[in-house]
Amino acid sequence: KLLAAGIDDIAIYIPKLFVDARDFAKARGMDPDKLQRGLGVSKMAIVDTNQDPACMAANACLRIMERNKIAPKDVGRLYVATESSLDESKAMNSYVIGMLEQVYGNDSFGHCGGIECKFACVSGSYALYDNTNWIRAGEAEGKSAIVVVSDIAKYDLGSSGEYTQGAGAVAMLLNDNPRLMTFDPKVTSTSIKNEYDFYRPFGKETPIVNGQYSNLLYMIQVKKALMAYKDKALSTGIIKLKEGETILDYIDFVNMHLPYSNMGKKALTYLLRHEWRSLPRWKGIIEKMGMQEPVPKDPRGTIESILADEEFMQKDHEFTKRFTMTDEFQEAYDSKLSSSLIASSMVGNLYTASLYMGFRSCMEFEFQKGVDLEGKRFGFGSYGSGSSAMVFSGVIMPAYKEIVKNMNLEAEIGDRRKVSLEEYEQIHESKLSPTQNILEGKKEFVLVGVGSSPELRGQRK
Ligand code: CAA
Repeated sequence: KLLAAGIDDIAIYIPKLFVDARDFAKARGMDPDKLQRGLGVSKMAIVDTNQDPACMAANACLRIMERNKIAPKDVGRLYVATESSLDESKAMNSYVIGMLEQVYGNDSFGHCGGIECKFACVSGSYALYDNTNWIRAGEAEGKSAIVVVSDIAKYDLGSSGEYTQGAGAVAMLLNDNPRLMTFDPKVTSTSIKNEYDFYRPFGKETPIVNGQYSNLLYMIQVKKALMAYKDKALSTGIIKLKEGETILDYIDFVNMHLPYSNMGKKALTYLLRHEWRSLPRWKGIIEKMGMQEPVPKDPRGTIESILADEEFMQKDHEFTKRFTMTDEFQEAYDSKLSSSLIASSMVGNLYTASLYMGFRSCMEFEFQKGVDLEGKRFGFGSYGSGSSAMVFSGVIMPAYKEIVKNMNLEAEIGDRRKVSLEEYEQIHESKLSPTQNILEGKKEFVLVGVGSSPELRGQRK
């Protein structure tokens, strides 16, 4: 018999420096509305000179351990998933354990296991799934697993990815009696295909990106995984559909990977169009919109051929715009998705951590609205370039209030400091050494230098 397993608590670490979208737009000669309304970006968190993904991961990890009074001997697995790994062989969780042992004592994690996981932004979801199954199988023997997702989303200066940057880490505590969410068993579904939509070749700090291609591929891959999820959810019986209903009617909250806030809306639009197209309700929606759904010249063509079909792309853009203005879409958007997007617009892209920051955002802001989340089903659409998607779900537990009532995103980030564009560019181009930090770390792990000697390891200051 499988044990229940899921997320017991969630902690975040977001660097306090940020770039304001308006300043950024002005400096790059862009319309600020493109960033704020077009992409949903208002602030992008950036790391100080003395912060890296390992330090952020260790800070998030320490927060979750201290808050829950978890000793290292109670942690059976510590996984780190990241797209911005430090080096090519030494796993990031080894650095994290090294930093945590400065607090808990040498060799205190001696019997903990774990690896660094890599598959762009989806790797955190694979880490979560594997650790959930470790617990379900009874291998954990009462111990917890910690999955940390930590990233610096960094693109070349002047590139179209530059306005979708951000940085931060999310640590999740998993066990067999979770207070926040129990994952639905036997429904997790995936899709995978060798693609080059976004990738960071050997030795390169920033990725090579095919932006519009990556947007469409994301939606196609998530849809494919959703179709497999649907089959499993129906066959396991966790969801039973009546005539005229769709699987999304039974997902109370939708959490999507958020490279930028509006990607969530784009993805929901795409999935709803796909799901509603064959239902009686679609006819009424189309009539109200006064426009037929456009079809590409070559509906079975490649992503490149669809993107190159200008007439279709233009009509499809118009169709999407009208669809998002319908009451039916607005109702789904407001009730299922909108709260998960708030944090993203405040901090920007966190790569692996974006989906889980969205989950946390949804819980915090729905709770603030007075919505009772107990028993509600959350659906997750995870995507990683390269490319793979994972769709899974979980149900909120009665004890969730204990955790969510204390959530306060702004307070947890702490006092933030806006950087000038000059400061941002200096940090971005690594013109400052780790000791030329802008802010003083307060009781947190910071990068002292890069190298293998003990005095250069991340230290808690
Ligand atoms: N006022 C209001 N809105 C405006 C506007 C203005 N003046 N100008 C443009 N917009 C709107 C556009 O209509 C568009 O909205 P829709 O998507 O709803 O049509 C939106 O702003 C963005 O405009 P563009 O599509 O023209 O933007 P772009 O081509 O300059 O770049 C991007 C967008 C492709 C996402 C680019 O930022 C990029 O390459 N980012 C990095 C890659 C990425 O994030 N891909 C996402 C999927 S892959 C993934 O998810 C993995 C990952 O984490 C990287």
